[in-house]
Amino acid sequence: MSVKILGIESSCDETAASVSLDGRTILSNIVASQVEEHKKFGGVVPEIASRRHAENILEVVRAALDEAKCGLPDIDGIAVTYAPGLIGALLVGTSFAKGLAMAADKPLIPVHHIAGHIASNYIAHPDLEPPYLCLVASGGHSQITEVLSYTKFRVIGRTRDDAAGEAFDKCARVLGYPYPGGVHIDRAAKKGDPDKYKLPIPKVTGSEYDFSFSGLKTAVINLAHNAEQKGETLDSDSLAASFQKTAAEMLVSKTVEAAKAFGYKTVAVAGGVSANSGVRELMLHECGKRGIKVYLPPLDLCGDNGAMIACQGYYDFLDGKRADESLNAVATLSLEDI
Ligand code: KG4
Ligand code: ZN
Repeated sequence: MSVKILGIESSCDETAASVSLDGRTILSNIVASQVEEHKKFGGVVPEIASRRHAENILEVVRAALDEAKCGLPDIDGIAVTYAPGLIGALLVGTSFAKGLAMAADKPLIPVHHIAGHIASNYIAHPDLEPPYLCLVASGGHSQITEVLSYTKFRVIGRTRDDAAGEAFDKCARVLGYPYPGGVHIDRAAKKGDPDKYKLPIPKVTGSEYDFSFSGLKTAVINLAHNAEQKGETLDSDSLAASFQKTAAEMLVSKTVEAAKAFGYKTVAVAGGVSANSGVRELMLHECGKRGIKVYLPPLDLCGDNGAMIACQGYYDFLDGKRADESLNAVATLSLEDI
């Protein structure tokens, strides 16, 4: 029997819904992005995000069902992102999914957003199976996670301060690019000299696989301010390239060290920053040298989307994960605590 899961995502600034068939086949994937509206403010405004989710969610879910050519009776379960994320934004998705599950008498499946990002690789790579190591780098999170099974995770490294995507966005802002800046840094970096500016790689004491991005971000801000004070013109393409090279080295070197230490021969990358060409190339290069197989999500599944929730929802469904009408949204929740 085939299993169809409707996945709903509203943890940040994308209202998204998708229908998966037996987990890895995506029948529809609808994303209503609010990015143009938040751009005006230089970042996501939580209250605006919640309001737009409330306005768009019904239409997005309807479109996902229509595109998948199915109605609610054909759906076996309703999966929804309940954590982590912006609380008001999450509440729209969870409340909507609860109402829908009750009205249609369908099981409700609570999905962790990071588990969803990890699942994005299952959609594109039918041969990828746990166990493996996954680097998750997004606007809100940076972590190295052992994917022990489809539904069990152990986080072995995390950021002490900023997430990787946050550092990309702040660096982009300093260089005058609009929010979200990661993609602009990526484009500018292609035109610049990555060795022109020497930027620090911070030492993180305590845990070998933890990251720290605040020092790197501050170094870029200081360089830009000093140049401004002296009336010098910065080579912004080269600063973007130098920043990207350093950030990629930080993310990739810790992941490769962790793979070596924990004996993993398979590494995946997920989250918004997995779209970064510098991170993708360096991961392929460093893992290739060591005989480690790398899985990267297609660019359209790197950022937030409903397909990853519909896919992870399938595995959570098989695992018996269910929520009742008391399901609440949770702003901060480790992948290990689900
Ligand atoms: O996963 P995501 O869509 O949302 C969160 O769960 O946070 O990640 C968004 C982040 C933003 O910080 C954005 O600038 C970054 O991913 N990003 C990139 C690229 N594309 C998106 N960062 C670097 N290079 C890119 N090409
Ligand atoms: Zn995300």
